[in-house]
Parts: sequence; structure tokens; C-alpha cells
Amino acid sequence: MKISIGCDHIVTEIKDNVVKYLQDKGHEVIDNGTYDKVRTHYPIYGKKTAAKVVSGEADLGIVICGTGVGISVSSDKVKGARTALVGNVESARFARETLNANILGMGGRITGAGLMENIIDVFLATAYKKTEENERLIAKIDAIAIDAAQVKDEHLFDEFIEKWDQGGYPAE
Ligand code: RB5
Repeated sequence: MKISIGCDHIVTEIKDNVVKYLQDKGHEVIDNGTYDKVRTHYPIYGKKTAAKVVSGEADLGIVICGTGVGISVSSDKVKGARTALVGNVESARFARETLNANILGMGGRITGAGLMENIIDVFLATAYKKTEENERLIAKIDAIAIDAAQVKDEHLFDEFIEKWDQGGYPAE
């Protein structure tokens, strides 16, 4: 797989270790930086990393900052990006399988190196389950990615709310 990766200065060595981990597993990596410890701003690298994923240059993306929050939020602003900030293996599986997440966000100062590797393994190995329901849900989520004032449809999620009310989700 071709993986686009980015980080801020707080976690540069952690990102470098992840790059090596991915390369050792045979993946091709586009390292968007940052490359040193000089103070910088995570949105720059969130945007760069996501841009390569949504353009199709990379298959999936990984973004890392101290908490993972700043760079995940930033990368998700790129149209077509679906970034999931993940701190456990099960969330990585859910993000890929159900939401077709294309960017994995992690907090390098929060999540340990071994767990990050497990999360990456699961994120990369899990295929999106392309069901009609998942497709509809993702399309509706993508439809929110416009100016809030333009989201006029009060009933956008009615079918999902109805399913929830009928106890559909807990049973799955
Ligand atoms: C440092 O800029 C720090 O705020 C950043 O790495 C991150 O933790 C933000 O979510």
C-alpha cells in the first residue's frame, strides 16, 4: 500500500519510527514532514497528508501530533478526507469497516508505540464493508461537510434515528 503520513514537531521521532515500521512491512510511504523538532503547526501537515489521500496519490493516510486531536481535525477539513482519531484497536477496525475512514489519526504523546503499531496493522488490514447502509450513512456524513447554514434538511438522519429507536444498532 502507499501511505501518506504527516506529523508536527512534538512527535517527529515517533512519526519516523512509524515510517520505518511501515517500510519494513513493505509499504511505500510519502513522508510529508515535519522532519525535525523546530516548532511548527500541525494543520500544515494534516492538510498535506490528506491532500495526497483524496487525490488518489496515496491509498490511506496517517496523521500524528501530541494528542492527535489537532492534526486529525485539520486533515478532516480536506474535502473527501474521513479522518478517525483512534486510541484502540477496535476503533481502528470500526473506522475502516463501517465509515471507510481513509486517514488514521493518533496521539503520539498519548498512545504507546506498541499499541500504535497494533492500531496501524488493523487499520491497514481491515477492508471497508460496502453495504447499502454504510454507503448511505457515509454519503449523509459527507453532505454535512458544507457550510452549516446550508444544511437545511432536518430529516437527513431520520432513517438512522428510526433504526436506533427500534433497537437496531445495539443488536448488531
Ligand atoms: C503541540 O503543538 C500540540 O498542541 C499538538 O501536538 C497537539 O497535541 C494538538 O492536538
